Formats: sequence, structure tokens, C-alpha cells
Amino acid sequence: MRVLLLGSGGRENALAWKMAQSSMLEELFIAPGNAGTRLYGKNVAMSTTDFPAIKKFVLENQVNMVVVGPEEPLVKGIHDFFLADDELKTVPVIGPNQYAAQLEGSKDFAKQFMFRHNIPTAKYATFTKDTLEQGYTFLESMKPPYVLKADGLAAGKGVLIIEDLKEAKAELKSMLADAKFGEASSRVVIEQFLKGIELSVFVITDGDSYKLLPEAKDYKRIGEGDTGLNTGGMGAVSPVPFADAAFMDKVQNQIIIPTVKGLRNDNIPYKGFIFFGLINVKGEPFVIEYNCRMGDPETEVVIPRLKSDILDLFEGVASNTLSERDVQFIDKCAATVMMVAGGYPEAYEKGKQIYGLNSVTESIIFHAGTSSDGPAVLSAGGRVLAITSYGKHLDGALAKSYDSAAKIEFEGAYYRKDIGFDVL
Ligand code: AMP
Ligand code: GLY
Repeated sequence: MRVLLLGSGGRENALAWKMAQSSMLEELFIAPGNAGTRLYGKNVAMSTTDFPAIKKFVLENQVNMVVVGPEEPLVKGIHDFFLADDELKTVPVIGPNQYAAQLEGSKDFAKQFMFRHNIPTAKYATFTKDTLEQGYTFLESMKPPYVLKADGLAAGKGVLIIEDLKEAKAELKSMLADAKFGEASSRVVIEQFLKGIELSVFVITDGDSYKLLPEAKDYKRIGEGDTGLNTGGMGAVSPVPFADAAFMDKVQNQIIIPTVKGLRNDNIPYKGFIFFGLINVKGEPFVIEYNCRMGDPETEVVIPRLKSDILDLFEGVASNTLSERDVQFIDKCAATVMMVAGGYPEAYEKGKQIYGLNSVTESIIFHAGTSSDGPAVLSAGGRVLAITSYGKHLDGALAKSYDSAAKIEFEGAYYRKDIGFDVL
């Protein structure tokens, strides 16, 4: 197969690493990729949302599968773009079409979907500029903390959790009337606050059947003990100890199966990954959010635990024969620790040379935000490297990642020393 993978983060580096192990792979291209993905294929300087450029590249290079890492090209309709083009329609895209990608692209769409199919999730109501007053009344009827969500994509910043009613009303006004998150907050979902511990569950589906992948837990806050600002993710572990067989049965029966069946009943074709952001409330799973892609940094622990050939699964998705494919996992734990730039998630510097990458032997280094300058590897983003290790237990995997992180240097490097602290 000749595969084009879209994206440039740690998630894409992990997917590239896995695809490169497949005997079915003839050539892998990554657009735009990073200094890590070039070890597994050819990086192509091309934006993930420049559909005409992607078309030209696919045709010129006889690409016969496109795997989409991030949500943006999906929400912008890359799958539909391929299906609507006579020259591209036979090239499968792994990732849902634009309508289905609203599971991530519109919180209101996702909530309506969940209520329609009786999938456990927080109670909610949706408001616009014209119903601002009703929004205030709804807030008055709720107990704090108040959860306000911009309906559309807001680069992970669109969710506000507020203790004070007056402040919640002011924020609601700022989102709806003053476009705090631009078009993304022209609708706002207000929902009941759920108290519990979160985890991420993933499936891959061809629209008819699905395969469950290992679950993971990510660590979003910049500071130890889950304090400070939200980030793209500072580390992840898999498996998640509290997600035992009884809990995962509930997840499958109450959430995953109704979701896949619900998509089918609503005539929504879906080909790709579904990411269930879940919360465990006293042993009962609820959906916090859907994403139409894999998680980052969860991919950096989930994909290393997959034993089966990922291209075989992708081919099953493309040809609607996923149910016939075999999926097996590696019976080891995996943990990843993210090294980030000093200052992240606020202002930070890029272009710092990274030393010590070659001295790491006990871990897999997935580049998240790097570029290359000849043989030198430079930081090129806030999240710079994801350091993944295996272990018989999570604590052993984490210890290896910390040993490896200590061998890597770049100016201002920071990482949390307590990944997994709440589940070990
Ligand atoms: P989201 O972008 O929807 O994942 O929301 C970001 C974060 O806000 C989640 O990871 C949760 O930690 C938190 N959150 C979202 N919705 C709720 C809710 N209904 N109750 C409690 N926490 C929530
Ligand atoms: N780690 C959370 C996400 O990818 O959205």
C-alpha cells in the first residue's frame, strides 16, 4: 500500500511507527510530519487542509490510502472531498466524513445524538445570542460548578468550568454576544457538572462493526497533582487500572454499541477512529465528549500496545470487512511522558536544539513538535517529545520513561514527574 498520513504530532509519529512495521506497506508519506516521522517515511511539506494540493500529491504518487490524524481536515470535509472527486473516490480515507465528524465538531450535535440513542451523558441545554436570557434562567436552575462549552472547535479552549453564577452569566454573554471563541461560540452548550475520574476509550469502525482498542488516561494539566493550565496533554498511561472488566462491559453495552448502532440507524456512515472521552461517576460511565480521531498523547500508549497489523485493520475499514480482521494486543503496560518547551502552554520559544536522543535505548521517542536542520533536531512546538516505555506494570514503564527523559536535553525543557499518580 502507498499511504499518505496527515498530521505532524506525536499521534502521527506513533501511527507512522506502527504502519512502518507492516508488511503491507510499500511507501509511507507524512504531511507535513516532523523530525521523528521522517524515520518511518517521507515527509511532504503540505498543509493537512490544502485539499487541492493533497489531491495533486495523491495522484502523482499513486497513493492508495489516506489516514487522517487530526480533526481539522475531517471537520472541514476531506473525506467528502475525496468521495466527490472522480479521480479520488476510489482512494479510501481513514477518518469520518464531515457530517459524522460533527460528533467532535459540534457539541450540540453530539449531545443530540447521545440523547436520541440513550447514551449516558450530562444533562444539557443549548443557547444562542437570541436565547441568552433563557440561558441565564437555565444557569439559575443549575447547581455550581457551571459547565459552559463553545459548540464548535476552539483549539481545546472552549470549555469553561465556573464556580460563581454571576461569572458564569458574564462568560455566557461573552461567548454568545461578543463571540469570545469566534464562530465556535455562536452556540453554547450548558451542562450538568459530573464528578469523577476521566479516561479515554477508542474504537476503530467501518460503520458496521468495530474493534475495541486499549483504553488510556491522559494528563491534561501542566502542573503536578493536576494543577495549573490545561495543555494538549502531558502524558498518558494504558491500561487504566480502574477500567476493569465490569466497567468496560458497561462502556461497551451502554456507550460503544449504542454509538455504533446509532450511527447506522441515523444513516451516518463512519469510517475511522471514535474517541470516547468518558468519566467514571461512582462506577458508571458517562460520555464527556466524542472525538472523531485518536487522542494525543493517548495514541503514544495505545498504538504501541496493538500487536496486529494496523494496515490490515485500515484495509478492513476501507472495504467494510473489519469484522473479519483479527485484533490482538501486547500484554504489557505502556506509559508516555511529554517533554514540553519552557513556558508552555503560554508563550514559549521554538528552535532549541535537542541533545541526547540517541542515548535513549529503553524507550520509544515519538516526536510531537520537532523540525530538523541537517542532522540536528530542533524543538518546533509546545509539546516537543513523547517518551513511551513498556513495562510489566505501569510504575516500571513510567520509571523507564523518566530515565530516558533525564538523558534528553534542550533549553527550558519541562515534564511532569507524576504521570499516573492517581491510578498507581
Ligand atoms: P472537553 O473539551 O469536552 O473534553 O472538556 C474539557 C474538559 O472539561 C474535560 O476533559 C473535563 O475535564 C471537563 N468537563 C467537560 N464537561 C464536563 C462535565 N459535564 N462535568 C465535569 N467536567 C467536565
Ligand atoms: N488527549 C486528548 C485529546 O487528544 O483530545
